[in-house]
Amino acid sequence: MDIRSYIEPRARMVDKALVSAVKALPRVHPPLREAMLYSLSAGGKRIRPVLLGAACELFGGRFRDVLPAACALEMVHTYSLIHDDLPAMDDDDLRRGRPTCHKVFGEAGAILAGDALLTSAFTVLFSCESRRIPAGRVLKAASILAARAGACGMVAGQSADLEAEGFLSKRGVPRARASALLNYIHLHKTADLIAAPLEMGAALAGAAARESRALSEFGLKLGLVFQAADDILDVVGDKRKLGKSGSDARNGKLTYASLYGVEGARRRLRSLVGQAKSKLRPFGRRAAVFHALTDFFAERDR
Ligand code: IPE
Ligand code: IPE
Ligand code: MG
Ligand code: MG
Ligand code: MG
Repeated sequence: MDIRSYIEPRARMVDKALVSAVKALPRVHPPLREAMLYSLSAGGKRIRPVLLGAACELFGGRFRDVLPAACALEMVHTYSLIHDDLPAMDDDDLRRGRPTCHKVFGEAGAILAGDALLTSAFTVLFSCESRRIPAGRVLKAASILAARAGACGMVAGQSADLEAEGFLSKRGVPRARASALLNYIHLHKTADLIAAPLEMGAALAGAAARESRALSEFGLKLGLVFQAADDILDVVGDKRKLGKSGSDARNGKLTYASLYGVEGARRRLRSLVGQAKSKLRPFGRRAAVFHALTDFFAERDR
């Protein structure tokens, strides 16, 4: 399966829908709208919206019917990146090949653009209902997004990620403890927002609870694959292709690369790929696209 030709058209649909969705929000303060659109339309791989569409299609739904939900998720993800780059967090200057939001709009402007994307995401998500998706399913998708993005999800992971800065430079840190902490960080800061689109897609298509749970377990493993690759690319990746400059070493982050070394991280990444794919067994051949996406996430160079 040529996974790039699967992703590309869907990602371009999302690009268009995102700009329309933000332009359609009524009465937004103009500088705020400018900052929101600046970060949203800078590119980005759009893998989370694509995952949402793939999950929906797995259970018989149509991608175009759930585009608002896919956009909502990308808005939440983009907010997380804007805040992640702030001087108080990773202090990065480059994102998606452009100066970071706070470099262009100032710190307050970037904080507010993030706040606005997070809240408006739910306005956009609720517009799904008018596309003949039953209200109960939309409500379920919203509750998944809120839980996976919030204080016990992505934000918890970001909090632990900051707390763990410099952890490995302390003396006598037991390796098992570092490894458990790393797993907690990655599971929440990244895997929660990779499992979310799969669960949301399943909810919007009306999947049975058992199938939705199986896909969610796959999503959490897939999230670990994605972040392990991100950690490796932070060390060895081509910064121009990545569109970000890499700050993990400068910030003393606890990552796959800092804990296991690049070669050790690559070995663990391969093992995670196997673990993720094993979670797809209940779906048999229906899961071909998810197998291909797993390989793509592991082998990506941007
Ligand atoms: C970056 O996510 C943040 C991580 C969780 C590693 P992506 O690599 O999906 O970033 P974009 O959306 O393509 O810019
Ligand atoms: C950030 O992880 C994950 C979130 C934004 C929630 P990273 O800090 O590793 O992401 P990059 O490398 O800056 O994209
Ligand atoms: Mg970070
Ligand atoms: Mg960062
Ligand atoms: Mg990173």
